[in-house]
Amino acid sequence: MAEEKSAPQQADGEALENLLHEGRQFPPSDQFAANAVAKPSLYAEAESAGTEFWARQAREMLTWEKDFEQTLDWSEAPFAKWFVGGKVNAAYNALDRHVEAGNGDRVAINFEGEPGDVRQITYAELTDLVKQAANAFESLGVGKGDRVAIYLPMIPEAVVSMLACARIGAVHSVVFGGFSSDALRNRIDDAEAKLVVTADGTYRRGNPSSLKPAVDEALSDGKSTIEHVLVVQRNEEPVDWTEGRDLWWHDTVAKAGKDHTAVGHDSEHPLYILYTSGTTGKPKGILHTTGGYLTQTAFTHKTVFDLKPEQDVYWCAADIGWVTGHSYITYGPLLNGASVVMYEGTPDTPHRGRWWEIVEKYKVSILYAAPTAIRTMMKWGDDIPAKYDLSSLRVLGSVGEPINPEAWMWYRKVIGSGRTPVVDTWWQTETGAIMISPLPGVTEAKPGAAQAALPGINADVVDESGQSVPNGSGGYLVIREPWPAMLRGIWGDPQRYKDTYWSRFEGMYFAGDGAKRDEDGDIWLLGRVDDVMNISGHRLSTTEIESALVSHAAVAESAVVGANDETTGQAVVAFVILRGEDAKKFTAEGADTSEIVADLRNHVGREIGPIAKPRQVLIVSELPKTRSGKIMRRLLKDVAENREVGDVSTLADTSVMNQITEGLKK
Ligand code: WTA
Repeated sequence: MAEEKSAPQQADGEALENLLHEGRQFPPSDQFAANAVAKPSLYAEAESAGTEFWARQAREMLTWEKDFEQTLDWSEAPFAKWFVGGKVNAAYNALDRHVEAGNGDRVAINFEGEPGDVRQITYAELTDLVKQAANAFESLGVGKGDRVAIYLPMIPEAVVSMLACARIGAVHSVVFGGFSSDALRNRIDDAEAKLVVTADGTYRRGNPSSLKPAVDEALSDGKSTIEHVLVVQRNEEPVDWTEGRDLWWHDTVAKAGKDHTAVGHDSEHPLYILYTSGTTGKPKGILHTTGGYLTQTAFTHKTVFDLKPEQDVYWCAADIGWVTGHSYITYGPLLNGASVVMYEGTPDTPHRGRWWEIVEKYKVSILYAAPTAIRTMMKWGDDIPAKYDLSSLRVLGSVGEPINPEAWMWYRKVIGSGRTPVVDTWWQTETGAIMISPLPGVTEAKPGAAQAALPGINADVVDESGQSVPNGSGGYLVIREPWPAMLRGIWGDPQRYKDTYWSRFEGMYFAGDGAKRDEDGDIWLLGRVDDVMNISGHRLSTTEIESALVSHAAVAESAVVGANDETTGQAVVAFVILRGEDAKKFTAEGADTSEIVADLRNHVGREIGPIAKPRQVLIVSELPKTRSGKIMRRLLKDVAENREVGDVSTLADTSVMNQITEGLKK
C-alpha cells in the first residue's frame, strides 16, 4: 500500500502554503469573553487534573444512578473502560431530569418540515413520547442489548426512537435515509437487528419521496433477523404492508402507556452502533457506550458552542444518520436541556433562502453546519442571506471537512455579521465527540484552523516514525491518550479495531488524517491520508464504490479516486474497464459512452445510495498498476484533477498513463 499513500506533507502543497500564510486572527470580544462558558483556565485545569478532569465533568454534566468507582481502566488497551462501576440512563439524563427540575415547558425540538408544517415539542412532551416508544419497543420483544435499526428521515421520531432505545438499554443503529436497500440490509445483518423503525417517506425538493419500499426490498427474502417494522406516517403515500411484521407508529407507540421508569445502565453498556466507511469495502460498525460518550458530548456541546440553555436556540443542520446528528442533535443538546431546531428538507426548497428564513423564524443563536453547505450558499450570493434578520446568531460552527479560509471568512462576515466566533470542530464517528476546536470566548481564532485539542484531549501531529513534528511541519494526526467518548471497538471485529486505529503508531490512536502545526503550534487539518473520501462531509471509501461498480455485469475492473471539488470538497471520479466486446466498443475513437456512464452511475446509486454516485465515470482500457499489481490512485487523481501526471517510474507498464490521458482527450 505504501506506494499509494500520499504523504500528508504533499497534500495540496500550494493550498497549504496559502493556508499557513493566513495571517488573520480574530480575538473574542471582551463582552463575549466575560460571559463565555469556557474560561482560559480550563486548559491548565485539565492538564493538572489528568483523567480526573473527566471524572469531574462526568459528575457535573450527568445525573448518575450509581456513582462510578474508577475513572479509567486502560489495562486492556486499546479497549477502554470509562467511569467503571457507574450506572446512568441516557434518556433520563436527556429528558426526565429536566422535567423534574421544572423545565418541562421548555421547547426541546422545534421541528420544521420541508413543506412548512411545524411541531413544537417541549421537554415534558418529548419525555412522554420516549416513554411511550420505550413501552412499545418492549412490547415488541425488544430488550436490553437487542439491536434496533432506525431508518428514518429528519423527523422528531428519529430522536424519540434513539432515546427510547437508550432508555431500555437497546442498541440503536441509525442508517442514513439516503442509503439504499442493500446498504440497509448489510447493516441489519451485521448488527443482527430485531426491529427496524422507518417511515412511509419524507419530502425532498418539494415532492414526497418514499422510504418504506427500501425496507421491504431489504427484507424481501424473509431471512433477516428483523421481526417487526414500525412505520411512522409522514407523507401518506401508499405503502405495501406485510401483515404480522409491519406496524404503524400511530397504532403502536401513540397508544402505549406514558409510564416508564428509566433504570441506570452500566457505564460501559453499548449505546449505539454507527456504520462508517473505512478503507475496505465493508463498512465498520463503530461502537459507542454510555457513560463516557454522554459525558464528552454534553461537555463539548456546552463549552464549544457556549451554550446557555435558558436562552439559546441551537440548530445543527446535519442529518441524524451521521455521527454529527447523534452527538449534536440528539445527545449533547438534550443532555444540556437545549432547545434545538430540526429541519427535514433541502436548503433550496422552496427557495435558496430557506436556511436563513429558519434562522430568522426561530431566532437561532447557534448554528452548526458543514463547509460544503457554506460554500454552496456562498456561491448562491450574499443578497440571499441579506434578506433575513440573522442578528440572533452568536456562535457559528463548522464540521465534517477542512473549511477553507475563504468560506470561514464568508461565514463569519456574511452570516455572523463580522461579530460571531466561528468554531471549526475536528472529530470523527470514532471519536464520538469534538476533539479539536477553538473555544469561543477564549481562542484567538484563525480562519481555516481547528487549532487546539480541547481541554482533557491529547492530540498531536507526528512523523512517519511517530515523533512529534516541530512547529511549521506536517505529519499525521494522532491522539495520545484515551478519551471518554472514544469508540469501544468495531462491532463483532476486535482485531479490525486494533489493526485500523492502533497499529500504525505504537500506543497512539491513528485518525487517518494529515495535519500540520503552524509556527504558533496550532493544528490545521489537511484531509485524509488513506483511501477514504470526503464528499460533502460524508465519508465514503474508494473500495466500497469500486466493489459496487464491479458488481455491474458490464464492468471488469474499476478504480475510484476523490478529486478536489470546489463545492463538495471532494467528488467521486471512477475509472472503469469494461468487459469483452464493450471494452473495445466504448474506448474506440468517437464512441458515445453517455448511456453506459449513466447506467453505471445509477448502479452505484442503487448499490450504496445517491451520495455515492460518481461525478464522472471515465471508460478506460487500462489502469496504472505497480509491479505487485496495486492500482496507483495517486496518478489517477492527477488525471481527475487535470494536473500533469506525477512520477510513473514504479508502474509495471509506464505507457499506461499515456494511454489513459490520450484516450480521455479523444
Ligand atoms: C474529516 C464527522 C477537517 C476528517 C464528524 C475526519 C474534518 C472525517 C473536520 C470524519 C474538520 C471532520 N476539519 N476535517 N473540522 N471534521 N473532518 O466520521 O477527515 O463522518 O477523519 O465524522 O471527516 O468523518 P465522520
